[in-house]
Amino acid sequence: MAETAPHRDDAIIVVENLEHSYGSFRAVDGISFTVKKGEIFSFLGPNGAGKSTVINILITLLSLQKGKAIVAGYDVTGDAQKVRESIGIVFQDITLDRDMTVWELLEFHGRLYDMPVKERRDRIDELLKLVQLEAKRDELSKRLSGGMKRRLEIARGLMTRPQVLFLDEPTIGLDPQTRMRMWEYIKGVNREGTTIFLTTHYMDEADQLSDRISIIDYGKIIITGTSWELKNTLGRDLIYLKTDNNANALRLLEHLPAVREITEKSKGIVLMVNEDGTKVLPGIIDTLRNDGIEISTINLKKPTMDDVFVFYTGRELRDEGQAPARAMFLRAGRR
Ligand SMILES: Nc1ncnc2c1ncn2[C@@H]1O[C@H](COP(=O)(O)OP(=O)(O)OP(=O)(O)O)[C@@H](O)[C@H]1O
Ligand SMILES: [Mg+2]
Repeated sequence: MAETAPHRDDAIIVVENLEHSYGSFRAVDGISFTVKKGEIFSFLGPNGAGKSTVINILITLLSLQKGKAIVAGYDVTGDAQKVRESIGIVFQDITLDRDMTVWELLEFHGRLYDMPVKERRDRIDELLKLVQLEAKRDELSKRLSGGMKRRLEIARGLMTRPQVLFLDEPTIGLDPQTRMRMWEYIKGVNREGTTIFLTTHYMDEADQLSDRISIIDYGKIIITGTSWELKNTLGRDLIYLKTDNNANALRLLEHLPAVREITEKSKGIVLMVNEDGTKVLPGIIDTLRNDGIEISTINLKKPTMDDVFVFYTGRELRDEGQAPARAMFLRAGRR
């Protein structure tokens, strides 16, 4: 067996310096990361960031151009068949055969993978229960709702008891309630022992579902960590201020000891502070008032995943396609 040992015992995916170009366009630009056995790991990034390209290389659908990728102990280039046997996949676009019933679809998939009859029948029962589609077992898949179709796709991806389940945008296009229920199913699958690699452009999804997140933009990983670690890099609290002279306010406040970083936005300024915001605010207000600056809005909050994303990419997810354009004034070196 041309097996390559992962660098760490608990790593189930190891990716090193991955690059991928479509013609002269580099969609993946030197990506390295590790997914640990048993975790839920997310790629969070906007449209066109390169998420599906990375997934497609890992599931051996796209051939690897440059770098290295090991999945479940197998090299995606040398051992593609072994990789395929170790994984389950749910694609970004729904791929169900619409003229089969729920049960037939899973049965067909099991046969495709040469699962013995008893094993595949038992597995179908188990999975329909897991994704709560038992009542729909004899329904044509085309009659299912969007959320049910997604659940069926997840069940199909799990038929062969994969070590890793790849989910490309698992809740795209679903309503908020259905999305939350999907998270519960995904967590249930993970509790069964399946490692999950998912991509998303939903902040809350990455935040609530993942053990660790990599923020990806323009084919590069910008930062990786747990939700808590990522938020913590932005300091303890965020303070939004609207004043009648933001440029002056910024100059006055950037030297306050508690201020880790200060950013000018179109509508005001944002301060990241290393201390409890409620303790820092009085000093900020005094400083501005002493200089005759009027404050019209004050807003104190804990950093969210949205804040993390905006900070590291310089844009909001809905500004898709725009070049980073941030006015950022670094006070202390970023971690
Ligand atoms: N087959 C292809 N031929 C040419 N360019 C491609 C192809 N597939 C993807 N791209 C380009 O590569 C970049 C990355 O695409 P990719 O599908 O990996 O992004 P993504 O992060 O999955 O985006 P989305 O959130 O929209 O699914 C995009 O600019 C895209 O236009
Ligand atoms: Mg995609």
